Amino acid sequence: MAFKGKVAIVTGGARGIGRAYSTALLNEGGKVCVCDINEDIAEEFLSGLSENVKGNAIFQKCDVAVYNDLKDAFEIAVRNFGRLDLVVNNAAILDESKLVKTIEVNFIAVAKSIHLAFQYMGLDKGGKGGSIVNTSSIAGHTANPLCPIYTATKHAVIGLTKSYGSDYHLKKSGIKVYAICPGQVNTPLCQDFIYRCIDAEEGKKYVGKLPWTPAEDLGKGLIKLLEDGKNGSVVQIDENGFNYV
Ligand SMILES: NC(=O)c1ccc[n+]([C@@H]2O[C@H](COP(=O)([O-])OP(=O)(O)OC[C@H]3O[C@@H](n4cnc5c(N)ncnc54)[C@H](O)[C@@H]3O)[C@@H](O)[C@H]2O)c1
Repeated sequence: MAFKGKVAIVTGGARGIGRAYSTALLNEGGKVCVCDINEDIAEEFLSGLSENVKGNAIFQKCDVAVYNDLKDAFEIAVRNFGRLDLVVNNAAILDESKLVKTIEVNFIAVAKSIHLAFQYMGLDKGGKGGSIVNTSSIAGHTANPLCPIYTATKHAVIGLTKSYGSDYHLKKSGIKVYAICPGQVNTPLCQDFIYRCIDAEEGKKYVGKLPWTPAEDLGKGLIKLLEDGKNGSVVQIDENGFNYV
């Protein structure tokens, strides 16, 4: 129970992989501020939580691309739970027809959230240190011709992770920074891939041929990373298990 009594913010925490992260942290005895743009799904998630963890989760409606929403989420988490130990930057979209929006949500919002996390948790800012976990993708370290913009944003997330996850920042802030690259997980983002990539026919072949990774594996992997991860590390969690890349 490495996370017992600790507090996390999980962006895009209402469904899919973010929900699996939130659930794993709650099951470890943690407290979670679930930040999501989708209120209905968040309510369905929180109301379905088991009684023993229900009191440890709150929902904050937040569009990560809106800086004040993001800042409010940090404020609410600290006001409600009295501390902050972990920020999971997980919210993202995949829609190659929305170039600017994709960069805003998948990259700029992650960069801004990392800045906020350093302000709220950094030793040099009066905080106690902590962790930041960014969700990248296998597309964060390989090419994907069917979704170049999404792929570029996920590469950028790894660049942020490795740069902030350096001794220079750790010494000042006491904050470790990691990234997770999930394999193919059966979520709405992945199901819509065919219609949101640049070629539906090729997209159908691509999604069909990859093995599925259960979302729960991502939850377990997050806990393992928090326990064992070296600062700046990037881990791939897919049908082959948990492997540093
Ligand atoms: N599903 C996969 O196969 C897969 C593979 C690799 C990486 N990923 C990454 O995993 C993460 C989660 O993806 P998922 O598959 O669970 O997707 P999903 O679409 O199922 O869930 C994403 C969540 O983020 C929320 N969200 C979207 N835009 C938001 C915004 N602007 N502000 C706040 N919340 C917002 C959505 O409401 C949703 O709850 C993403 O970073 C994605 O790029 C997914």
